[in-house]
Amino acid sequence: MIRKRVGVLISGRGSNLQALIDACRLRDFPAEIVMVISNVPQAQGLLRAEAALIPTLAINHKDFSSREAFDVALDKALNEAHVELLCNAGFMRLHTAGFVERWRDRHLNIHPSLLPAFRGLDTHARVIEAGVTISGCTVHFVRSEMDSGPIVAQAAVPVLGDDTADSLAIRVLEAEHRLYPHALRLVASGAVSVEGERVIGTAVEKDQALLFWPPLP
Ligand code: GRF
Repeated sequence: MIRKRVGVLISGRGSNLQALIDACRLRDFPAEIVMVISNVPQAQGLLRAEAALIPTLAINHKDFSSREAFDVALDKALNEAHVELLCNAGFMRLHTAGFVERWRDRHLNIHPSLLPAFRGLDTHARVIEAGVTISGCTVHFVRSEMDSGPIVAQAAVPVLGDDTADSLAIRVLEAEHRLYPHALRLVASGAVSVEGERVIGTAVEKDQALLFWPPLP
């Protein structure tokens, strides 16, 4: 099996990066992480990558005069590492249109809501404020607009009556850690592709079960 060469972009904790590292240890996983880059030099995720003996780079956006210059440096480092697929995992910078175009349909992001609802920051607080009873997470191909692009996979997570933004974040994060490896497997194995801004080919069980939250009595 030929494994796709994956680069991961992070800015912080790196728990989703860890989930991807763990998945890549599986013998039948169709991807390997060949480079982890953080725009924040002290990001905890860099230590996780180092512990897994994965090459790391800190490319501090503050060292660049423009967003374009930063993205050019990012692109150069990814190309030098022969990265084929790119995964944003808690990467807190918006990319330039040129960068997005260069990585089009080879670039994933994870967001802690059921997109297209609740794009942007402070997701969980806004979910609770809105009173929705089902939230979740989404892995999607990256487009220029923040948290938008063809959806590869989603997981639903119930919002409980006494949830705070923090308690909901913990429950959604557990789902993220299962969803991202699943989505990367679908993309890296070639099981899915993008057609007309929609992802096609996802192998779905033809199970008609509906998810109710609160559950039916
Ligand atoms: C996750 O909730 C992810 O969905 C969002 O930022 C958070 C990153 O967490 N984009 P971690 O760094 O992967 O632990």
